[in-house]
Amino acid sequence: MAIREIVPHTDNFIRKKSKPVNDFDEKLWELLDDMSETLDAKNGAGLSAVQVGVLKRVFIININNMKIEFINPTIVKASGEQYKKEGCLSVALPFGYVKRPKTVTVTAFDRYGNKFTLTCEDWTAVCICHESDHLDGILYIDKLCEPPKGYKEEE
Ligand code: NI
Repeated sequence: MAIREIVPHTDNFIRKKSKPVNDFDEKLWELLDDMSETLDAKNGAGLSAVQVGVLKRVFIININNMKIEFINPTIVKASGEQYKKEGCLSVALPFGYVKRPKTVTVTAFDRYGNKFTLTCEDWTAVCICHESDHLDGILYIDKLCEPPKGYKEEE
């Protein structure tokens, strides 16, 4: 395993659209293992392959020290709304509020090519939306907004 270098948001590469994974092979597993190690080293909540210079529809999130790998993810359902402060390992700027759905249902494949469906809410939903955006070259700084007056952040 190896820690990979993070592509900064100032590099146009980060704006490229990632391509679906076709081969669930050792090369993919090596990428995932490296991404996991990189995520730990940088203390991040999530990391997409594009951020380590690989244009594949792959990301990892880390929720309470539990990592989930998503390959070829699709958000199939989204409901509600929430505003949370986001940051990004590729963006050396202050965290900022983004409006996201409160709950998302995502289908994806694991590293062995098994399809799964997950419904997540709150911070986990934020992470999934943030990382999904990366796969289409979208960054949280494109979506910065202020929460409506009187908005109370739930824990
Ligand atoms: Ni990010």
